[in-house]
Parts: sequence; C-alpha cells; structure tokens
Amino acid sequence: MTSRLRSDEWYAGDDRNAYIHRAWMRRGVPQSAFEGRPQIAIANTASDLTPCNAHLDEVGGSVRNGVYEAGGIPLDLPAVSLGETLVRPTAMLWRNLAAMATEEMLRANPVDGVVLLGGCDKTIPALVMAAASVDLPAVVVPGGPMLNGTFRGVPLGCGTDVWRLSEEVRAGTLSERDFRRSESSMIRSRGHCNTMGTASTMALVAEALGLVMPGLAGTPAPDSRLLEAAHGTGRLAVELVASDRRPSTFLTEASFRNAIVALAAIGGSTNAVVHLLAIAGRLGIDLELADFDRIGAEVPLLVNLQPAGRFLMEDLHRAGGFLAVLREVRDLLDPTALTVTGHPLVSYLDDARIWDPEVIAPRDAPLLPAAGISVLHGSLAPGGAIIKPAAASPHLLQHRGRAVVFDSVEDFRARIDDPDLEVDASSVLVLRGCGPRGYPGMPEVANLPLPRKLLEQGVRDMVRICDGRMSGTAYGTVVLHVTPEAAAGGPLAVVRTGDWISLDVRARRLDLEVPAEELAAREPSRATVDGFASPRRGWERLYVDHVMQADTGADLDFLVGASGSEVSRESH
Ligand code: FES
Ligand code: MG
Repeated sequence: MTSRLRSDEWYAGDDRNAYIHRAWMRRGVPQSAFEGRPQIAIANTASDLTPCNAHLDEVGGSVRNGVYEAGGIPLDLPAVSLGETLVRPTAMLWRNLAAMATEEMLRANPVDGVVLLGGCDKTIPALVMAAASVDLPAVVVPGGPMLNGTFRGVPLGCGTDVWRLSEEVRAGTLSERDFRRSESSMIRSRGHCNTMGTASTMALVAEALGLVMPGLAGTPAPDSRLLEAAHGTGRLAVELVASDRRPSTFLTEASFRNAIVALAAIGGSTNAVVHLLAIAGRLGIDLELADFDRIGAEVPLLVNLQPAGRFLMEDLHRAGGFLAVLREVRDLLDPTALTVTGHPLVSYLDDARIWDPEVIAPRDAPLLPAAGISVLHGSLAPGGAIIKPAAASPHLLQHRGRAVVFDSVEDFRARIDDPDLEVDASSVLVLRGCGPRGYPGMPEVANLPLPRKLLEQGVRDMVRICDGRMSGTAYGTVVLHVTPEAAAGGPLAVVRTGDWISLDVRARRLDLEVPAEELAAREPSRATVDGFASPRRGWERLYVDHVMQADTGADLDFLVGASGSEVSRESH
C-alpha cells in the first residue's frame, strides 16, 4: 500500500513529532505498523452497564484478527455506551453525546477507517451518525440478538412480554409471584432484545442502508457465524481504506428508500424514524417525515415477530434471515443503492430463500397488505406525529374521544389507577412534557399503561397520544412523536381534560376539536410548564438549548451535517 494514508500525518517522517507518535504507540508492535498500514479503529460500545453489548469485546477480537490478517492495524476505541434499560432519564438523551464523542475521537486520532460495534437500541444509530459526520471508511457489525427465552413452555419476547405480563398482573390474571418467576427467563443469552424492537430494527435497517456486510444483521449474538462475519468485516475495513469507500460515497437517497421499505416489511420500530432522519441529516440527504409514509405505507408486513406478531429474532434467522425478507420486496428496492462492499444491495438477494413461511410470509400472502408507519397531521400535531398501525387495534384507527390529560409521567403514575379518575374505554389518554426538550431526551413512555379499572373490565387498548417515543417492543394504538412538543409551544401544551380529539389514521389526521381562536387564546397552565425540564448546566443544558424536534431526527442543530476527517493542528 503506497498511497498516502490519513494516519501518515502522524506517523510518517523523521521529525520529533512523528517520533513521539510512533514511540508511544510502539509497545510491542513492529516498525512496519507505521509504514503505510491502514489504522482501523474498532469503535466498541461494550460495557457491563450495557448488557446487550457486553459480548462485543469478543466480537471485536474477531474484527482485530481480520484487520491484522488483511494488513491493517486494529485499534480498540471504547465508545460511549448506552444501555436502554438502565440509563436515565432516557438513553435517547445521550445518543447525540455518544455520536458527538465518537465523531470527535475518530477525527482527533490517527485513524484511517472504522468498524462500528453496536447492538442495544441507541448504539448503532449513534455510531452511524458519527461515521457519517467524520466520513471515514466505516462498516457496522451488529452485535446480534439474544436467543429465545422460554417461560412455562412458551417463548418470552424481551420487552414485549414485560409489557404484556405486567398488564396481566394489573388486570389480576397473573400473580405477582409468577411475574417474578418469569424474570430469570427473560434474558437467555448474550445479545440485544430478541423482539423486533429498536435494536433488531436498527441492525437490519443499517444493513438495508448498506452499512453492514449483507447477510450478517440478525445473526444471533451467540452464533459462531457472527464471529466469522466479524472477522470478514475486519478484512473488509482494510479494503475500504484502500478504495477510499466512505459513507458519503454510497449512502444516497436510494439507500434511505431501501431502508424505509425494509423498515415496513419487517414491522420495525417507530424509533427508526427519528434515527434515520438524524443519520440523513448528517449526510445532507433530504429525508422528511412524509417520506416514511410515501415510501413505506403500501409495503406489506412480511415478518411475524413480536411485538406486532408471534416469533423472535432467532426464528427470523432460522427462517432465512433478512435477505429472504428483502428478496420478497425486491421490486420495491432501489437497484442502484450500493453497499459497503461496493456491490448493490439487490445483488445479494438471488440465493436468499424462505425456509419457514410462518415466520417470513411470502409476498403473495403477507401478514398485512400495508405495514408502514403512518404520518399524521392536524390541529394537534401541526409538525406531524406518527403511528404504527401494525401494532395498533384496527377498531381504534378511526376514533373520537374525550381527552384525559397528564402533565408528566409522575402525574400520570399518581392518578391513572385512581378509582375516581373519569375515564372510560373511549377516552383518549394524553401525556405531554415528554418531547426532546421537555423531558429532556424524548423517553419511551408513550405506551401508557391503561387504567386498572378498565383493565379489570377487559379493556386492552385505548388511544394514547404523547410527544415522547415508544419502545420498539411495545404495541397499542399509540400516537407518538407529536411535533411540536408541548415544551416547544405545540398545541399539545394546551389540551384540556374533556376536549374532544379525533384520530383518523386513514385520513392521516389528528385533530383537537377546539375552535382555532380559542386554541390560540389558551395558555399552558402552571402545572404544565412546571412539568418541563429546565436543566442549568452540562450536557442537559446544551441539549435542551439545541435539540431539534422529532420530525427532523432530534439531533442537535449544530451537529447536522459533516465536518469530514480533516487532520487538525499538531498537538506538540
Ligand atoms: Fe438493549 Fe433492548 S435493552 S436492546
Ligand atoms: Mg427499546
């Protein structure tokens, strides 16, 4: 390899600074390590506090071997790690921090290319945002889902069954003791959640974008083929540097169209909408909320996975995997979209087969004829809101009801089970103050638990509306990402209990039936405003001052776009 590398800016030459850069890095590596060999960072989100990613050090070991074998030098770069279940107030608050830190560290160091190791929900989006903005040759290795757990002979789906079982307890149909017993069966192995939650979705969506070696995403975390593919990805990363294949060279509008088609066909998480918008923003690609509806709405649902269906990620892999799904919708994919290998995504579909049509439905017998995410507009969501009809109850997709409004999650928890709360099955539960700015960080709280008294009557779904997000593992007739959020002056801030709200998913409308003049004259109450976050310092302060709304991806305004990989001034 003779062409000049970015890392040569550090290592080449005989001056004092080149001496310093090499000397401190030597530690047993030979002189040849600094002579034109691509320096490949392995941006690794392994952490004991991110249990879904805890195995990534082993995956990184396979990447290292591949990099070294292909003539590169592998370099572990620990990245900010975000564990969905632990991090407060929500991992989403820190996605942009993880993206910014990774971007800056890649730029600041002698790195020629990067392998991105992620798994748990926010980790792949954050790494991809970083890679898009630094625009160094980059490839993702998704850490893979965990194996199916079982409880009393039936599979347990991560997340989805927590929501389901906890509602059963509240409805009185499952004992506290059995609920506790199921806890140790929930997580059977290493890996991320095994439902079609955000982690699974973003791994597959990253492959649809072209950022993963085709056929790898969805490989279960304990499967030895994951390590083999990680090894192959390490080799590929060295090739990427040689051919200067940067994200900006193959991530195009066509890639995003393919990602939206894939998102619908797999019945993926609503969170993918914010993440894809943010990634597109980093690349300068003009992706809009409306594109999800326009491109995805008529795509059939083919994957029968929880939360919309029955099976889990291990089953999807066994049934033929993601490429078998894509093959069914091949005519909807853009054949020009390239992958990180340099070949088009569609060129990988010829050999894909469905081995179990119960898990992956063939195109002529889809689970739903039209599965995409619907984008709603109206007087309650002037900037838009979304709903996933596949996870909703058909009878509620057109609904008119009176609002029961909560100013915060705490307010909701304090009152929802009050026997005197005026609520019935036709009510519309409204939770505000949960947007990017208001919470802060747009937490996954929109799938509000139903009032106990209604659960006891057998009610299992109600229309719920929120400016926050919903876990990708959750289900229900939930209108999410209402924009502008209440804390940014959206009409959600002035909805009052008793107001009529009408939802019409077919017409893509979400309206507050209050005359415009009255709406304009209303002010948010003291209690509403007190529910909004007002951080004084640190990241939270920076975040609330600069975060954009959900309809543009909830990135920070000054992180949109790319700064590239330009080498900065010398440090000594
Ligand atoms: Fe990590 Fe679900 S908690 S993927
Ligand atoms: Mg999640």
